[in-house]
Amino acid sequence: MALACAADFAVTLTDEAQLDDFMASGTEATADDLSLFVLSGGSNVLLPASLNAVVLQPNMRGIHVTAQTEHYVDIEVMAGENWHDLVVYTVNQGWYGLENLALIPGLTGAAPVQNIGAYGVQLEDRLQYVRAYHLPSKTWHNLSTTDCDFGYRDSIFKRAPNTWLISRVGFRLHTDPTNILASYGDVQTVAQRYAEQQDRKQPTPVDVMQAIIEIRQQKLPDPKQLPNCGSFFQNPIIDQSQFIALQATYPAIVGYPMPDAMVKVAAGWLIEQAGLKGGGITPIFTHKQQALVLTNHAPYQATQADVATAQHYIADVVYEKFAIQLSREPVWVNADGSIGHAEHVV
Ligand code: EPU
Repeated sequence: MALACAADFAVTLTDEAQLDDFMASGTEATADDLSLFVLSGGSNVLLPASLNAVVLQPNMRGIHVTAQTEHYVDIEVMAGENWHDLVVYTVNQGWYGLENLALIPGLTGAAPVQNIGAYGVQLEDRLQYVRAYHLPSKTWHNLSTTDCDFGYRDSIFKRAPNTWLISRVGFRLHTDPTNILASYGDVQTVAQRYAEQQDRKQPTPVDVMQAIIEIRQQKLPDPKQLPNCGSFFQNPIIDQSQFIALQATYPAIVGYPMPDAMVKVAAGWLIEQAGLKGGGITPIFTHKQQALVLTNHAPYQATQADVATAQHYIADVVYEKFAIQLSREPVWVNADGSIGHAEHVV
């Protein structure tokens, strides 16, 4: 989001042993009882202007094949690998399964924290295990997919912030080029066009990846050009009865059925219908092509407080119109490195 932020201390970790050493010996900073704050690529955090904490930055690199058969490839990826580069690398190797998650910003180690998801695939569908350091007990753990207790943009890592430092992520990818998931939105149509350009009858995972890159580039601003942290609000999940009542007034409302008679509503649609596509409070505005994304028009000058002001305003206008409370999606970081509660509007 390119917010102005300076931290007291930062430690970049290039291997796991370095973390053991750091935690065993402590530093001047930990002696002062500063809290530890784990920062990955920084693409989904809202940082305070002054961060009084020790920032731990996992930057271990490497991609290793750990098992391979005719049908699948198991890989272990170190936390500091760039996520999109990993997606492109695996698909080009003929190892498929991550193509729907192309162009998501950030590093691999952060991907399990919010169980990144896009175009019908969530990280948990491909993940086998996570190796992570438990900061309170200073011990290493291998966590299975079940241990991670994933939900929509959620996991044990997200629910207990600054408790785990993820160092490796294990994936099982497949080698079948006919096995694709293109049912979301216009992915199938765009992927088909890429396939035909290559004289293929059916799209392969390579075509799906190209399609998703194209779709995302059209709708989502590049954080390097116009700072943003992807979807700023979660798609709210409401009672089916409330959804049906809203449908009577707004027949075009976009919703997806969920278990337990709930409906997930497209927050981007709500914001657009509330007249706020491109709206906000200077210098934070929703994106003109995708109202769910907040953009920062004053990089490294705007602060967390500016984001909160725009967030309040947008959430209030949407609530007035639809009686639906929007929750923030990115992680709100307090000045002492603790994490604000994601459900609450600050
Ligand atoms: N819509 C509008 N106006 C807008 C934006 C969206 O009417 O300004 C409508 C669209 O027409 C569509 C519906 O809302 O009918 C859903 O829009 P879209 O397909 O663009 O997806 P989204 O719900 O806005 C979610 C994820 C994205 C993910 C896409 C694709 C959340 C909070 N967001 O967005 O994730 O890439 O689906 O799977 O779940 C992210 O988390 O940072 C992120 C970008």
